[in-house]
Amino acid sequence: MLFCLVLIAVVVLATPIAAHALSDSGQKANEEAGAVLFRDKGCTHCHGEGGIGGPKAPALLGIWNNKLLTPAKLTDQIMNGGQKMPPFSDSLTDAEIAQLVAYLRARHKPVPPPLPPGSPSAQ
Ligand code: HEC
Repeated sequence: MLFCLVLIAVVVLATPIAAHALSDSGQKANEEAGAVLFRDKGCTHCHGEGGIGGPKAPALLGIWNNKLLTPAKLTDQIMNGGQKMPPFSDSLTDAEIAQLVAYLRARHKPVPPPLPPGSPSAQ
């Protein structure tokens, strides 16, 4: 009887923890995929490596802390571009845009793995 209670308690307690861990790792995977896209789709060309900013475009490092730049706003900026930023809706899938948004919103942005030797640089 006691064993059953313990078992139920373990299952009930562990389920949300497992779900949380899963969504955490899904979030991380999205951020990492976004880091690769950010480099390989030409964002770094204007926004600098890792989004540190450059002569052509603003830094994107403070987005995690900017309540005005909601996921919807970021998605819109990437899809439709801005005054000087080109639109990317034709060259990125919805899933890729979502990954880029996850990356942009990450407080500690993951660094993409190095390109394999000999591969052409995206820039
Ligand atoms: C040709 C240069 C250029 C490229 C390439 C570019 N951007 Fe931009 N981006 C800009 C400029 C300039 C702005 C400032 C607003 C404007 O003119 O659109 C901007 C603004 C933004 C903003 C809004 C920042 C803010 O503080 O409001 C986001 C987010 C963004 N870019 C993400 C991206 C992502 C993601 C990519 C790659 C898919 C990308 N940009 C590629 C030039 C560029």
